[in-house]
Amino acid sequence: MTSEYLFELGGENKELAKIEAEELLKTEGYNPETGFEEGQIVIIKTSQKLALNTIRRLGMTKRVSRIIHSSEEKDIGKVIEQLPTLDLGKNSFAIRQIRRNVISERKIAIKIGRKIPIENEIALDNPDVKILFYTGSRTIISILEENSTTAYKSCLEHHVRYRPYFSPISIHPRIARSMVNLANCSPNDTVLDPFCGTGGILIEAADMGMKVKGMDLLEKMVVNSKGNLEHFGLEGKIKKGDVKESKNQSFEAIVTDPPYGIASSTGGEKISELLQRTMTIFSEAMEKGKRIVMAISNPELIQTTNFKKIYQFEWYIHKSLTRYIMVLEKN
Ligand SMILES: C[S@@+](CC[C@H](N)C(=O)[O-])C[C@H]1O[C@@H](n2cnc3c(N)ncnc32)[C@H](O)[C@@H]1O
Repeated sequence: MTSEYLFELGGENKELAKIEAEELLKTEGYNPETGFEEGQIVIIKTSQKLALNTIRRLGMTKRVSRIIHSSEEKDIGKVIEQLPTLDLGKNSFAIRQIRRNVISERKIAIKIGRKIPIENEIALDNPDVKILFYTGSRTIISILEENSTTAYKSCLEHHVRYRPYFSPISIHPRIARSMVNLANCSPNDTVLDPFCGTGGILIEAADMGMKVKGMDLLEKMVVNSKGNLEHFGLEGKIKKGDVKESKNQSFEAIVTDPPYGIASSTGGEKISELLQRTMTIFSEAMEKGKRIVMAISNPELIQTTNFKKIYQFEWYIHKSLTRYIMVLEKN
């Protein structure tokens, strides 16, 4: 049975957040169809109800709620009048507005509350479900179950400041997670990061149930990655080696963040040469249809001859540093 969901995207990079959600739902067999979009919200129709584990994978979406009403009617009062009684089971509830202060939350909450059986308890602080309403060029009412949380907040527990082995160049957990979700991988698939550093990407992939393999030129980084994974109770196969070892590995996708020439070492090799060599290695190591998701500082250095470029996202870090995320598929 089809369902419609309201995705509230994080503010870091709307495009990346939206495509992360679409690609994840495709990978997990939900046949997503994206509909209405406005500001930070997107409606996505799915062929079946979303599993909590799928929602939990999302790194760049704040909340996902199931839509019970969506229409072009702008008068939310009229919409509520036409709503049937809301069946919330035995759950306690709270009613919240998605964009704060657009209209009076209290007034609308009272009207929606009349559609909820008296047996359902109001719990403003810790409700089992939240009824969310949105007013913009559409009126949307949705239900958010309290246990259906995305990883938008929880993945911050993996932030560099909470890891025993710190690296200033490690990718932000939300970005790392979205990169893994663009790689077309499901739990138990193997993700390879041949430039693993302190393991930021491997942590997110392992947290989502994937098998992870990592490599790094420096022994110190191997120790760091292993230590960080262990710290979070996660497992991975990490070894010291050059990226060329990728040819001897089996994996479903490569998700990686090669050196970009500021603080990370290349063992004396020029970045342009390393990246050129890397793409030849990847091309030889990969079968048709498999994906590489790569964070880079200069897309022009990436030779895409044997690959189809599926997406490229710009990711602004600060005035003098913009990075890119490229999603490539082997021809
Ligand atoms: C940008 S960092 C990766 C950061 C990583 N995502 C993290 O969370 O810490 C790039 C890593 O590539 C490693 N490296 C450089 N040249 C390499 C090569 N030829 N083969 C494998 N690793 C290499 C560096 O030692 C460095 O740890």
